[in-house]
Amino acid sequence: MTGLKEVLLEATKEAGRIILQYFDGVFKIDHKEGINNLVTEVDKLAETRIIEVIRATYPKHSIISEEIGELMKPSDYKWIIDPIDGTVNFAHGVPICCVSIGLMHEDKLILGAVYNPMMNELFVAEKGKGATLNGNPISVSSNANFKTAFMVTGFPYNWSQYTEHPIKVFERIVLEGLPVRRLGSAAIDLCWVACGRFDGFWEYNLQPWDCAAGYLMVEEAGGRVTDFSGKAYDVFDKETLATNGKIHDDMIRVIGKR
Ligand code: IPD
Ligand code: CA
Ligand code: CA
Repeated sequence: MTGLKEVLLEATKEAGRIILQYFDGVFKIDHKEGINNLVTEVDKLAETRIIEVIRATYPKHSIISEEIGELMKPSDYKWIIDPIDGTVNFAHGVPICCVSIGLMHEDKLILGAVYNPMMNELFVAEKGKGATLNGNPISVSSNANFKTAFMVTGFPYNWSQYTEHPIKVFERIVLEGLPVRRLGSAAIDLCWVACGRFDGFWEYNLQPWDCAAGYLMVEEAGGRVTDFSGKAYDVFDKETLATNGKIHDDMIRVIGKR
């Protein structure tokens, strides 16, 4: 996997360099569907550079990337790219944002990288070989006591169109007495579960580019990722529950309560 990993790291670092260069500076901001669903010119610059780096070595691989969409080829390899995860934070100069890139082979994630250049934190996961933060192995927390679990979540931009459900689940977790944070970058949320800062994360309606790399990070760090009923997770799923494994069943119970 050396060639693949090198290209992944180069693409990730190149995007990180662009994000850092523009962070807290001047750039054009637009919105997509939904007035608060932002995209900046930096998302597009970073995305273009990532694709350039991948294409230079692997012109025949498929790519799914948030801003440009699907560039599908008849290949077993698929790169799943979020050039900036946490764009709303980025647009407001909040340093909780990152580039996130996952690589699938025959529909299974084999590599993932998440890089927050403002905090100089590079998370890398390799299927079967563990996960690292800046080169040091990481693992999920060991907290098995749900009552003291420290949680993180996110809300879809258009949650009001769904049902009351996402906010009801949030309410139930808060009423359990758990401290819950909302950072604004699902990829970082997942990495912070992987390195043990949080005990668990859940969110509705994420896209594959939000989760691909972070999902592998949690799994390789010894955690568990499923949908809200405990079924095996797929990055194309609309429910993401990622925990240290020890509080997973408690989370399924509370999410499932009506
Ligand atoms: C968003 C972030 C956020 C999550 C949203 C995502 P973006 O990604 O991951 O934490 O709550 O659902 O869309 O738009 O910043 O790439
Ligand atoms: Ca995202
Ligand atoms: Ca994005």
